[in-house]
Amino acid sequence: AQYKVGYFVGSLATGSINRTLSEALIKVAPDTLEFTEIPIKDLPLYSYDYDEDYPPEGRALKEAILASDAILYVSPEYNRAIPGGLKNAIDWGSRPWGQNAFARKPSAIIGASPGGIGTAVMQANLRSVLAFLDSPQLNAPEAYITYQANAFSNGECTDPSTRDFLATFMSEFEAFIQRVLSSAPGHIG
Ligand code: FNR
Repeated sequence: AQYKVGYFVGSLATGSINRTLSEALIKVAPDTLEFTEIPIKDLPLYSYDYDEDYPPEGRALKEAILASDAILYVSPEYNRAIPGGLKNAIDWGSRPWGQNAFARKPSAIIGASPGGIGTAVMQANLRSVLAFLDSPQLNAPEAYITYQANAFSNGECTDPSTRDFLATFMSEFEAFIQRVLSSAPGHIG
């Protein structure tokens, strides 16, 4: 099967190491996965005042999530938590009440940090949010990437063991998507 994966890069920084990681992941992913970035930077800050009439950025975000078979989160850890811009996008996607676009979408989380914890605390935080939103998560392998600049060049991971690990992570994600979607009652397609 061919699966559409919508992905979020949790950083808005121009030199984002997580954007680099996302490029490297796509390069080593199984070719049954087709990737589309879901942009978050132009979303206003969410308020339920918008629920009556979502602005174009909010509509586009929800449509992009709904059009995806699965969601991949590639995100930094900011102050031991989910970056504000990414949390804002998740809030947009989850509302209005009863129209949570993440429900039953298989998901996976990965993140890079220069530090040794490799975004583990952010990921634990994001896992609670995804559980609440009823998005099944790839539980293993976990992927905490300590970013070393010399292991990446031109959007590729050049360190063989890290590269193998990233490839394994993506093929496990693909197998997980297949399991979730093939067992979902009422799943179309
Ligand atoms: C950080 N950084 C950071 N790193 C970490 O491992 N744990 C943390 O809690 C934080 N907190 C934090 C807060 C804020 C506001 C910033 C700007 C940075 C460092 C962070 O990992 C580093 O800047 C990475 O380069 C961020 O990833 P992107 O944005 O380059 O993808």
